[in-house]
Amino acid sequence: MALSVIQACRSLALSTWLLSFCFVHLLCLDFTVAEKEEWYTAFVNITYVDPDTAEVRTEKTECGRYGEHSLKREARGVLAMPATTQDRQACDPNSRFTPRAHGAWIALISRGNCTFKDKIRHAVGHNASAVVIFNVGSSNPNETITMPHPGTSDVVAIMIPEPKGRELVLLLERNITVHMHITIGTRNLQKYVSRTSVVFVSISFIILMIISLAWLVFYYIQRFRYANARDRNQRRLGDAAKKAISQLQVRTIRKGDQETESDFDNCAVCIEGYKPNDVVRILPCRHLFHKGCVDPWLVDHRTCPMCKMNILKALGLTSSAECLNELPMDYELAVGGVALNAMVMSDDVMGGDVAGGA
Ligand SMILES: *[C@@H]1O[C@H](CO)[C@@H](O)[C@H](O)[C@H]1NC(C)=O
Ligand SMILES: *[C@@H]1O[C@H](CO)[C@@H](O)[C@H](O)[C@H]1NC(C)=O
Ligand SMILES: *[C@@H]1O[C@H](CO)[C@@H](O)[C@H](O)[C@H]1NC(C)=O
Ligand SMILES: *[C@@H]1O[C@H](CO)[C@@H](O)[C@H](O)[C@H]1NC(C)=O
Ligand SMILES: *[C@@H]1O[C@H](CO)[C@@H](O)[C@H](O)[C@H]1NC(C)=O
Ligand SMILES: [Zn+2]
Ligand SMILES: [Zn+2]
Repeated sequence: MALSVIQACRSLALSTWLLSFCFVHLLCLDFTVAEKEEWYTAFVNITYVDPDTAEVRTEKTECGRYGEHSLKREARGVLAMPATTQDRQACDPNSRFTPRAHGAWIALISRGNCTFKDKIRHAVGHNASAVVIFNVGSSNPNETITMPHPGTSDVVAIMIPEPKGRELVLLLERNITVHMHITIGTRNLQKYVSRTSVVFVSISFIILMIISLAWLVFYYIQRFRYANARDRNQRRLGDAAKKAISQLQVRTIRKGDQETESDFDNCAVCIEGYKPNDVVRILPCRHLFHKGCVDPWLVDHRTCPMCKMNILKALGLTSSAECLNELPMDYELAVGGVALNAMVMSDDVMGGDVAGGA
Protein backbone atom coordinates (compact mmCIF):
# COMPACT_ATOMS: atom_id res chain seq x y z
CA MET A 1 0.00 0.00 0.00
CA ALA A 2 2.79 2.41 0.94
CA LEU A 3 4.41 1.56 -2.36
CA SER A 4 1.36 2.54 -4.40
CA VAL A 5 1.13 5.85 -2.51
CA ILE A 6 4.74 6.55 -3.36
CA GLN A 7 4.08 5.69 -7.00
CA ALA A 8 1.05 7.99 -7.11
CA CYS A 9 3.18 10.81 -5.69
CA ARG A 10 5.81 10.14 -8.31
CA SER A 11 3.27 10.24 -11.15
CA LEU A 12 1.86 13.45 -9.72
CA ALA A 13 5.31 15.03 -9.58
CA LEU A 14 5.96 13.95 -13.16
CA SER A 15 2.72 15.33 -14.54
CA THR A 16 3.17 18.59 -12.63
CA TRP A 17 6.60 18.90 -14.11
CA LEU A 18 5.39 18.18 -17.64
CA LEU A 19 2.50 20.61 -17.29
CA SER A 20 4.71 23.46 -16.11
CA PHE A 21 7.08 22.62 -18.95
CA CYS A 22 4.29 23.01 -21.52
CA PHE A 23 2.99 26.11 -19.78
CA VAL A 24 6.38 27.82 -19.95
CA HIS A 25 6.53 27.05 -23.65
CA LEU A 26 3.09 28.45 -24.29
CA LEU A 27 4.13 31.62 -22.47
CA CYS A 28 7.25 31.77 -24.63
CA LEU A 29 5.15 31.44 -27.76
CA ASP A 30 2.75 34.10 -26.63
CA PHE A 31 5.24 36.72 -25.51
CA THR A 32 8.39 36.28 -27.54
CA VAL A 33 7.27 34.60 -30.75
CA ALA A 34 4.08 36.32 -31.73
CA GLU A 35 4.48 39.80 -33.06
CA LYS A 36 1.18 41.49 -32.81
CA GLU A 37 -0.10 43.99 -35.30
CA GLU A 38 -3.11 46.14 -34.71
CA TRP A 39 -5.02 47.76 -37.54
CA TYR A 40 -8.32 49.50 -38.12
CA THR A 41 -10.71 49.34 -41.01
CA ALA A 42 -12.35 52.56 -42.24
CA PHE A 43 -15.92 53.20 -43.35
CA VAL A 44 -15.95 55.26 -46.53
CA ASN A 45 -19.18 57.17 -47.24
CA ILE A 46 -19.36 58.69 -50.73
CA THR A 47 -22.08 61.13 -51.77
CA TYR A 48 -22.44 62.74 -55.22
CA VAL A 49 -25.11 63.96 -57.61
CA ASP A 50 -25.43 61.79 -60.69
CA PRO A 51 -25.30 64.25 -63.63
CA ASP A 52 -27.45 62.04 -65.88
CA THR A 53 -30.40 61.49 -63.55
CA ALA A 54 -29.77 64.42 -61.16
CA GLU A 55 -30.40 62.15 -58.18
CA VAL A 56 -28.15 61.98 -55.09
CA ARG A 57 -26.12 58.81 -54.91
CA THR A 58 -24.71 57.77 -51.55
CA GLU A 59 -22.80 54.66 -50.67
CA LYS A 60 -21.04 53.58 -47.51
CA THR A 61 -18.67 50.60 -47.35
CA GLU A 62 -16.08 49.36 -44.86
CA CYS A 63 -13.47 49.03 -47.58
CA GLY A 64 -10.75 51.33 -46.22
CA ARG A 65 -7.86 50.59 -43.93
CA TYR A 66 -6.09 53.17 -41.78
CA GLY A 67 -2.36 53.64 -42.32
CA GLU A 68 0.00 52.49 -39.60
CA HIS A 69 0.92 56.04 -38.56
CA SER A 70 -2.37 57.66 -39.43
CA LEU A 71 -4.51 59.59 -36.99
CA LYS A 72 -7.33 57.22 -36.06
CA ARG A 73 -10.26 59.60 -36.39
CA GLU A 74 -12.91 60.68 -38.84
CA ALA A 75 -12.39 63.10 -41.73
CA ARG A 76 -14.68 64.64 -44.32
CA GLY A 77 -14.30 66.80 -47.41
CA VAL A 78 -14.55 67.12 -51.16
CA LEU A 79 -12.48 64.59 -53.09
CA ALA A 80 -9.67 65.93 -55.31
CA MET A 81 -6.89 64.29 -57.28
CA PRO A 82 -3.71 65.62 -58.88
CA ALA A 83 -4.63 67.88 -61.79
CA THR A 84 -2.52 66.20 -64.49
CA THR A 85 -3.22 62.66 -65.67
CA GLN A 86 0.56 61.88 -65.72
CA ASP A 87 0.83 62.53 -61.99
CA ARG A 88 -1.99 60.52 -60.40
CA GLN A 89 0.62 59.14 -57.98
CA ALA A 90 1.46 62.61 -56.55
CA CYS A 91 5.17 61.82 -56.49
CA ASP A 92 6.08 65.34 -57.70
CA PRO A 93 6.09 67.87 -54.81
CA ASN A 94 4.62 70.47 -57.17
CA SER A 95 1.65 68.41 -58.31
CA ARG A 96 -1.50 70.57 -58.07
CA PHE A 97 -4.81 69.52 -56.64
CA THR A 98 -7.99 71.24 -57.80
CA PRO A 99 -10.80 70.70 -55.29
CA ARG A 100 -14.17 71.51 -56.86
CA ALA A 101 -15.48 73.24 -53.75
CA HIS A 102 -14.15 75.48 -51.00
CA GLY A 103 -13.38 74.17 -47.55
CA ALA A 104 -11.85 70.89 -46.45
CA TRP A 105 -10.78 68.51 -49.20
CA ILE A 106 -9.42 64.97 -49.37
CA ALA A 107 -6.64 63.93 -51.75
CA LEU A 108 -7.18 60.78 -53.88
CA ILE A 109 -3.82 59.36 -54.94
CA SER A 110 -2.73 56.17 -56.72
CA ARG A 111 -0.25 53.83 -55.11
CA GLY A 112 3.17 53.43 -56.76
CA ASN A 113 6.38 55.12 -57.94
CA CYS A 114 7.21 56.71 -54.57
CA THR A 115 6.66 56.09 -50.89
CA PHE A 116 3.36 56.54 -49.07
CA LYS A 117 5.15 59.10 -46.93
CA ASP A 118 6.04 61.27 -49.96
CA LYS A 119 2.50 61.16 -51.35
CA ILE A 120 1.01 62.11 -48.01
CA ARG A 121 3.54 64.90 -47.48
CA HIS A 122 2.83 66.39 -50.92
CA ALA A 123 -0.94 66.31 -50.37
CA VAL A 124 -0.67 67.80 -46.89
CA GLY A 125 1.62 70.49 -48.33
CA HIS A 126 -1.42 71.55 -50.40
CA ASN A 127 -3.62 71.68 -47.28
CA ALA A 128 -5.43 68.37 -47.79
CA SER A 129 -7.39 67.40 -44.66
CA ALA A 130 -7.01 63.66 -45.34
CA VAL A 131 -5.30 61.39 -47.86
CA VAL A 132 -6.88 58.37 -49.61
CA ILE A 133 -4.47 56.13 -51.49
CA PHE A 134 -5.88 53.40 -53.71
CA ASN A 135 -4.10 50.11 -54.18
CA VAL A 136 -2.81 49.05 -57.62
CA GLY A 137 -1.54 45.77 -59.03
CA SER A 138 -2.64 43.43 -56.23
CA SER A 139 -3.87 39.95 -57.14
CA ASN A 140 -6.93 40.16 -54.91
CA PRO A 141 -9.07 43.14 -56.05
CA ASN A 142 -10.34 43.77 -52.50
CA GLU A 143 -6.88 43.85 -50.93
CA THR A 144 -5.54 46.71 -48.85
CA ILE A 145 -2.43 46.92 -46.70
CA THR A 146 -1.59 48.82 -43.54
CA MET A 147 0.54 51.59 -45.03
CA PRO A 148 3.71 52.53 -43.19
CA HIS A 149 4.32 56.27 -43.38
CA PRO A 150 6.51 57.39 -40.46
CA GLY A 151 6.84 61.12 -39.95
CA THR A 152 3.41 62.00 -41.30
CA SER A 153 1.34 61.05 -38.29
CA ASP A 154 -0.69 64.27 -38.02
CA VAL A 155 -3.13 63.46 -40.78
CA VAL A 156 -5.77 60.84 -41.58
CA ALA A 157 -4.44 58.49 -44.27
CA ILE A 158 -6.33 55.40 -45.46
CA MET A 159 -5.94 52.89 -48.25
CA ILE A 160 -8.86 51.67 -50.36
CA PRO A 161 -8.92 48.76 -52.83
CA GLU A 162 -8.14 49.31 -56.51
CA PRO A 163 -11.71 48.95 -57.98
CA LYS A 164 -13.02 51.53 -55.55
CA GLY A 165 -10.18 53.91 -56.41
CA ARG A 166 -10.74 53.54 -60.19
CA GLU A 167 -14.46 54.19 -59.72
CA LEU A 168 -13.71 57.44 -57.89
CA VAL A 169 -11.14 58.50 -60.49
CA LEU A 170 -13.78 58.06 -63.21
CA LEU A 171 -16.25 60.22 -61.26
CA LEU A 172 -13.64 62.97 -60.75
CA GLU A 173 -12.67 62.88 -64.45
CA ARG A 174 -16.32 63.61 -65.28
CA ASN A 175 -16.01 66.77 -63.13
CA ILE A 176 -18.47 65.39 -60.55
CA THR A 177 -18.18 66.81 -57.03
CA VAL A 178 -17.74 63.86 -54.67
CA HIS A 179 -18.13 64.27 -50.91
CA MET A 180 -16.35 61.76 -48.77
CA HIS A 181 -16.75 60.96 -45.08
CA ILE A 182 -14.23 58.62 -43.47
CA THR A 183 -15.08 57.01 -40.11
CA ILE A 184 -13.30 54.45 -37.97
CA GLY A 185 -14.38 50.85 -38.58
CA THR A 186 -13.37 47.79 -36.59
CA ARG A 187 -10.17 47.11 -34.71
CA ASN A 188 -8.23 44.08 -35.87
CA LEU A 189 -5.43 42.25 -34.16
CA GLN A 190 -3.15 40.10 -36.22
CA LYS A 191 -0.51 37.80 -34.82
CA TYR A 192 2.55 36.89 -36.79
CA VAL A 193 4.93 34.13 -35.87
CA SER A 194 8.34 35.19 -37.01
CA ARG A 195 10.82 32.62 -38.20
CA THR A 196 13.65 33.59 -35.83
CA SER A 197 11.34 33.23 -32.84
CA VAL A 198 10.23 29.79 -33.97
CA VAL A 199 13.87 28.76 -34.28
CA PHE A 200 14.58 30.21 -30.84
CA VAL A 201 11.73 28.35 -29.17
CA SER A 202 12.51 25.11 -31.02
CA ILE A 203 16.12 25.26 -29.89
CA SER A 204 15.16 25.96 -26.29
CA PHE A 205 12.65 23.12 -26.44
CA ILE A 206 15.24 20.72 -27.82
CA ILE A 207 17.77 21.79 -25.19
CA LEU A 208 15.23 21.19 -22.43
CA MET A 209 14.40 17.78 -23.90
CA ILE A 210 18.09 16.88 -24.05
CA ILE A 211 18.58 17.95 -20.44
CA SER A 212 15.58 15.87 -19.37
CA LEU A 213 16.79 12.84 -21.32
CA ALA A 214 20.31 13.22 -19.95
CA TRP A 215 18.87 13.34 -16.47
CA LEU A 216 16.78 10.23 -17.15
CA VAL A 217 19.78 8.33 -18.44
CA PHE A 218 21.85 9.45 -15.45
CA TYR A 219 19.06 8.43 -13.08
CA TYR A 220 18.72 4.96 -14.60
CA ILE A 221 22.46 4.35 -14.68
CA GLN A 222 22.67 5.26 -11.01
CA ARG A 223 19.68 3.10 -10.17
CA PHE A 224 21.19 0.19 -12.08
CA ARG A 225 24.52 0.59 -10.32
CA TYR A 226 22.78 0.86 -6.98
CA ALA A 227 20.75 -2.31 -7.65
CA ASN A 228 23.96 -4.09 -8.69
CA ALA A 229 25.81 -3.01 -5.57
CA ARG A 230 22.87 -4.05 -3.42
CA ASP A 231 22.67 -7.48 -5.06
CA ARG A 232 26.40 -8.04 -4.63
CA ASN A 233 26.19 -6.92 -1.02
CA GLN A 234 23.16 -9.14 -0.39
CA ARG A 235 25.01 -12.14 -1.83
CA ARG A 236 28.05 -11.49 0.30
CA LEU A 237 25.98 -11.13 3.45
CA GLY A 238 24.05 -14.29 2.53
CA ASP A 239 27.32 -16.22 2.20
CA ALA A 240 28.51 -14.87 5.53
CA ALA A 241 25.19 -15.86 7.09
CA LYS A 242 25.48 -19.42 5.72
CA LYS A 243 28.94 -19.68 7.19
CA ALA A 244 27.64 -18.42 10.52
CA ILE A 245 24.68 -20.84 10.47
CA SER A 246 27.02 -23.77 9.94
CA GLN A 247 28.79 -22.82 13.18
CA LEU A 248 25.55 -22.67 15.19
CA GLN A 249 24.56 -25.48 17.47
CA VAL A 250 21.86 -28.01 16.40
CA ARG A 251 19.91 -30.29 18.67
CA THR A 252 17.23 -32.95 18.27
CA ILE A 253 14.33 -32.69 20.72
CA ARG A 254 13.71 -35.84 22.76
CA LYS A 255 10.66 -37.03 24.54
CA GLY A 256 10.49 -35.39 28.01
CA ASP A 257 12.69 -32.36 27.12
CA GLN A 258 11.47 -29.11 28.65
CA GLU A 259 10.83 -27.72 25.12
CA THR A 260 7.97 -30.22 24.60
CA GLU A 261 6.07 -28.91 27.60
CA SER A 262 2.93 -26.94 26.73
CA ASP A 263 3.99 -23.72 28.57
CA PHE A 264 7.28 -23.52 26.66
CA ASP A 265 7.43 -20.76 23.98
CA ASN A 266 6.41 -21.84 20.48
CA CYS A 267 8.81 -21.48 17.53
CA ALA A 268 8.50 -17.77 16.66
CA VAL A 269 8.74 -18.44 12.91
CA CYS A 270 5.99 -21.05 12.41
CA ILE A 271 4.12 -20.48 15.72
CA GLU A 272 4.09 -24.23 16.37
CA GLY A 273 5.22 -26.02 19.52
CA TYR A 274 8.23 -28.42 19.60
CA LYS A 275 7.62 -32.15 19.31
CA PRO A 276 10.02 -35.02 19.91
CA ASN A 277 12.45 -35.59 16.96
CA ASP A 278 12.16 -31.95 15.81
CA VAL A 279 15.61 -30.59 14.90
CA VAL A 280 16.17 -27.17 16.46
CA ARG A 281 18.85 -24.53 15.92
CA ILE A 282 20.18 -22.73 18.97
CA LEU A 283 21.28 -19.12 18.39
CA PRO A 284 24.07 -17.43 20.37
CA CYS A 285 21.36 -15.56 22.35
CA ARG A 286 20.09 -18.98 23.57
CA HIS A 287 16.83 -18.59 21.62
CA LEU A 288 15.90 -21.72 19.68
CA PHE A 289 13.75 -22.37 16.64
CA HIS A 290 13.05 -25.19 14.20
CA LYS A 291 16.12 -25.65 12.01
CA GLY A 292 13.97 -25.65 8.84
CA CYS A 293 12.24 -22.48 10.00
CA VAL A 294 15.13 -20.31 11.10
CA ASP A 295 17.86 -21.19 8.55
CA PRO A 296 16.21 -19.42 5.56
CA TRP A 297 15.28 -16.53 7.85
CA LEU A 298 18.91 -16.15 8.96
CA VAL A 299 20.20 -16.18 5.37
CA ASP A 300 17.87 -13.25 4.64
CA HIS A 301 17.97 -11.30 7.91
CA ARG A 302 20.99 -12.45 9.89
CA THR A 303 19.17 -11.58 13.14
CA CYS A 304 17.35 -13.56 15.79
CA PRO A 305 13.58 -13.41 15.08
CA MET A 306 12.93 -12.86 18.81
CA CYS A 307 15.56 -10.46 20.13
CA LYS A 308 17.01 -9.06 16.86
CA MET A 309 20.53 -10.01 17.90
CA ASN A 310 22.87 -10.04 14.89
CA ILE A 311 24.41 -13.50 14.56
CA LEU A 312 27.31 -12.23 12.42
CA LYS A 313 28.27 -9.81 15.17
CA ALA A 314 27.81 -12.43 17.85
CA LEU A 315 30.13 -14.84 16.00
CA GLY A 316 32.68 -12.12 15.15
CA LEU A 317 32.10 -12.41 11.39
CA THR A 318 31.19 -8.75 10.94
CA SER A 319 34.40 -7.34 9.42
CA SER A 320 33.66 -6.44 5.79
CA ALA A 321 30.10 -7.66 5.58
CA GLU A 322 28.82 -5.25 8.20
CA CYS A 323 30.35 -2.19 6.48
CA LEU A 324 28.55 -3.15 3.32
CA ASN A 325 25.33 -3.51 5.24
CA GLU A 326 25.41 0.24 5.93
CA LEU A 327 26.00 1.07 2.27
CA PRO A 328 22.53 1.04 0.71
CA MET A 329 21.11 3.84 2.89
CA ASP A 330 24.00 6.26 2.28
CA TYR A 331 24.12 5.28 -1.36
CA GLU A 332 20.46 6.01 -1.90
CA LEU A 333 20.86 9.45 -0.32
CA ALA A 334 23.87 10.22 -2.48
CA VAL A 335 22.12 9.14 -5.67
CA GLY A 336 18.68 10.42 -4.86
CA GLY A 337 18.91 13.69 -3.04
CA VAL A 338 15.91 15.96 -2.60
CA ALA A 339 15.46 16.93 -6.26
CA LEU A 340 15.67 13.40 -7.55
CA ASN A 341 13.34 12.05 -4.91
CA ALA A 342 10.69 14.49 -6.08
CA MET A 343 11.12 13.27 -9.63
CA VAL A 344 11.59 9.57 -9.16
CA MET A 345 9.20 7.73 -11.42
CA SER A 346 8.03 4.21 -11.89
CA ASP A 347 9.10 2.45 -15.07
CA ASP A 348 5.69 2.42 -16.76
CA VAL A 349 5.18 6.14 -16.24
CA MET A 350 8.68 6.74 -17.49
CA GLY A 351 8.06 4.87 -20.72
CA GLY A 352 5.06 7.06 -21.48
CA ASP A 353 7.06 10.20 -20.83
CA VAL A 354 9.85 9.35 -23.21
CA ALA A 355 7.45 8.28 -25.94
CA GLY A 356 5.34 11.38 -25.46
CA GLY A 357 8.24 13.86 -25.38
CA ALA A 358 10.11 12.58 -28.43
C1 LIG B 1 -23.27 59.35 -45.97
O1 LIG B 1 -23.08 60.77 -45.94
C2 LIG B 1 -24.25 61.51 -46.34
C3 LIG B 1 -23.88 62.96 -46.35
O2 LIG B 1 -22.84 63.27 -45.49
C4 LIG B 1 -25.37 61.22 -45.36
O3 LIG B 1 -26.52 61.90 -45.75
C5 LIG B 1 -25.62 59.71 -45.34
O4 LIG B 1 -26.60 59.39 -44.37
C6 LIG B 1 -24.37 58.95 -45.03
N1 LIG B 1 -24.63 57.54 -45.19
C7 LIG B 1 -24.48 56.68 -44.18
C8 LIG B 1 -24.80 55.25 -44.47
O5 LIG B 1 -24.06 57.03 -43.09
C1 LIG C 1 7.70 58.86 -60.75
O1 LIG C 1 7.92 60.02 -59.94
C2 LIG C 1 8.88 60.94 -60.43
C3 LIG C 1 9.03 62.06 -59.44
O2 LIG C 1 9.27 61.54 -58.15
C4 LIG C 1 8.41 61.44 -61.80
O3 LIG C 1 9.41 62.30 -62.32
C5 LIG C 1 8.18 60.26 -62.73
O4 LIG C 1 7.65 60.70 -63.95
C6 LIG C 1 7.20 59.29 -62.11
N1 LIG C 1 7.05 58.10 -62.94
C7 LIG C 1 5.87 57.61 -63.26
C8 LIG C 1 5.88 56.37 -64.11
O5 LIG C 1 4.83 58.13 -62.88
C1 LIG D 1 -2.65 76.29 -46.91
O1 LIG D 1 -3.32 77.06 -45.91
C2 LIG D 1 -2.57 78.14 -45.41
C3 LIG D 1 -3.40 78.84 -44.34
O2 LIG D 1 -4.25 77.97 -43.67
C4 LIG D 1 -2.31 79.11 -46.56
O3 LIG D 1 -1.53 80.17 -46.10
C5 LIG D 1 -1.59 78.37 -47.66
O4 LIG D 1 -1.41 79.21 -48.76
C6 LIG D 1 -2.35 77.15 -48.10
N1 LIG D 1 -1.58 76.41 -49.08
C7 LIG D 1 -2.11 76.02 -50.26
C8 LIG D 1 -1.15 75.27 -51.10
O5 LIG D 1 -3.22 76.26 -50.56
C1 LIG E 1 -14.59 41.67 -52.64
O1 LIG E 1 -15.55 42.24 -51.73
C2 LIG E 1 -16.90 42.04 -52.14
C3 LIG E 1 -17.79 42.73 -51.14
O2 LIG E 1 -17.23 43.93 -50.68
C4 LIG E 1 -17.20 40.55 -52.22
O3 LIG E 1 -18.51 40.34 -52.67
C5 LIG E 1 -16.20 39.87 -53.14
O4 LIG E 1 -16.40 38.49 -53.11
C6 LIG E 1 -14.77 40.18 -52.71
N1 LIG E 1 -13.86 39.60 -53.69
C7 LIG E 1 -12.78 38.93 -53.32
C8 LIG E 1 -11.95 38.35 -54.41
O5 LIG E 1 -12.49 38.79 -52.15
C1 LIG F 1 -13.84 69.17 -66.48
O1 LIG F 1 -13.51 70.54 -66.23
C2 LIG F 1 -12.34 70.98 -66.90
C3 LIG F 1 -12.07 72.42 -66.50
O2 LIG F 1 -12.41 72.68 -65.20
C4 LIG F 1 -12.55 70.86 -68.40
O3 LIG F 1 -11.36 71.25 -69.06
C5 LIG F 1 -12.89 69.42 -68.74
O4 LIG F 1 -13.20 69.29 -70.12
C6 LIG F 1 -14.07 68.94 -67.94
N1 LIG F 1 -14.30 67.54 -68.19
C7 LIG F 1 -15.53 67.02 -68.44
C8 LIG F 1 -15.57 65.53 -68.70
O5 LIG F 1 -16.51 67.70 -68.43
ZN1 LIG G 1 9.15 -23.56 13.42
ZN1 LIG H 1 17.48 -14.20 20.40
